[in-house]
Amino acid sequence: MSFLSSLAEVVGQKNVLTGEELAPYLTDWRNMATGAAQCAVKPGSTEEVAAVVKLCAGAGVPVVTQGGNTSLVGGATPDASGNAVILVTARLNKIRVIDPDNATITVESGLILQNLQEAARNAGFLFPLSLAAEGSCTIGGNLATNAGGTQVLRYGNMRELTLGLEVVCADGEIWNGLRGLRKDNTGYDLRDLFIGSEGTLGIITAATLKLFPQPAAKCTAMLALSSVENAVAVLRRARKAFDTALTGYELMAGVCLDMVHGCFPQQKLPFAEKPVWYALLEISDSEGEEHARGMFEAMLGESFEAGEIDDAVIAENIQQSKDLWHLRESITLAQAQAVKSIKHDISVPVSRIADFIATTDAACRTRFPGLLNMTFGHLGDGNLHYNVGTSERFTAADMARDYDAIYNLVHDAAHAYAGSISAEHGIGSFKVDEMPRYKAPRELELMRRIKVAFDPGNILNPGKVLR
Ligand code: FAD
Ligand code: MLT
Ligand code: ZN
Repeated sequence: MSFLSSLAEVVGQKNVLTGEELAPYLTDWRNMATGAAQCAVKPGSTEEVAAVVKLCAGAGVPVVTQGGNTSLVGGATPDASGNAVILVTARLNKIRVIDPDNATITVESGLILQNLQEAARNAGFLFPLSLAAEGSCTIGGNLATNAGGTQVLRYGNMRELTLGLEVVCADGEIWNGLRGLRKDNTGYDLRDLFIGSEGTLGIITAATLKLFPQPAAKCTAMLALSSVENAVAVLRRARKAFDTALTGYELMAGVCLDMVHGCFPQQKLPFAEKPVWYALLEISDSEGEEHARGMFEAMLGESFEAGEIDDAVIAENIQQSKDLWHLRESITLAQAQAVKSIKHDISVPVSRIADFIATTDAACRTRFPGLLNMTFGHLGDGNLHYNVGTSERFTAADMARDYDAIYNLVHDAAHAYAGSISAEHGIGSFKVDEMPRYKAPRELELMRRIKVAFDPGNILNPGKVLR
């Protein structure tokens, strides 16, 4: 029997996709990389995933796991060899159980994040992971990249939201680690190794995740700021005033929201006079509307008096709050439509962020005149999407020529500021060659040993994270 027929025996013929049906799975979200594969398979259960992996392991066929295919680093795209099987998790989309007393939910890994948020809400809880791709990204992809998003400040990233995992290992055996325990010190933490491993150590089939109380009230404001120093000063004040009620603090260069408005004119900009920087501030309060509003306005008033804020729009209702967030969350799409860009998902200590931006912007201006700086990101986490784009003076051809030099300039700067070259998107294939430049040889060697221990045949997402 042929290899593809054996796969069809496991998952059913209609769940083995080739030809035109395979095409959408071969290219990444940004159209930056296209690979080739023998087929895409869509298993419908953990047992089917295990059987597919056993077949692939036996035949020495690479397995590239794909959830929502929203990776921004080419993590879910196969290489050009055409050998791989793409394992698509879309049919693993069940909610297995909600345990209200344990405040946990157990779901399969192909569940779309937005559907999980909704299920949690319907059960009277909050699942706080929130990001612009939430309508199409999956829990498995969020786990495999240790996704961050806009609520990390209060709730942490995906690792901090996870209690247990079920994983199909490289030999096709199933590890059931679906424990809903908040305390468990029984040896090495396999769960935390699989989280953030980008499909290179195992295929996550299910997870037990933490749930939180729904806040009684939220307040959102868009702030106009004249400098990053002022944005950091507002953050300092907000942390002091709100403590754990501070749930979001996002920074955006003025040019980012101009681009959103340019691409989507129905999205109105909040200020008549265009600011150099915007910040989106959000609190979530457990007491109620009046209490939240009182402390929000008091803090903003003090910030105005201190000269940190030039202007502010406070959302008066849920729709206005959604509109402000929509501006922020449309930046990625607008940048993808308006310009050719290079993404840098860096983090540096918050205390050094203003200096980092000033010196790196200046270095870009000197070395790449005309390059468009369009920085935004999760300032509260020290995580910037220090993205740069083409302009009339810096064309797509200039960018193609200088791609590596720009990458190195920004990543070297992050490294020099004791930062990271990937805060939340992962390494994928786009950053794999950057690893030896910034990771100590010892760290890389330990990582390679882990990879060999978990996947001796190198069949799980080869060429991603490590070479
Ligand atoms: P995919 O893109 O399908 O895969 C991502 C990686 O995970 C690949 O390496 C893949 O092999 C692996 N993988 C997927 N499923 C599994 C599984 N079940 N088991 C093992 N490995 C698996 N990221 C952030 O952190 N914060 C953001 O704010 C954010 N915003 C975004 C906004 C937009 C508009 C877009 C397009 C992307 C954004 N991302 C963000 C990046 C992206 O990492 C997340 O969208 C998401 O976590 C990826 O989920 P996915 O299901 O699409 O994974
Ligand atoms: C975001 O914060 O919106 C995402 O990480 C996407 C991006 O970097 O473009
Ligand atoms: Zn982000």
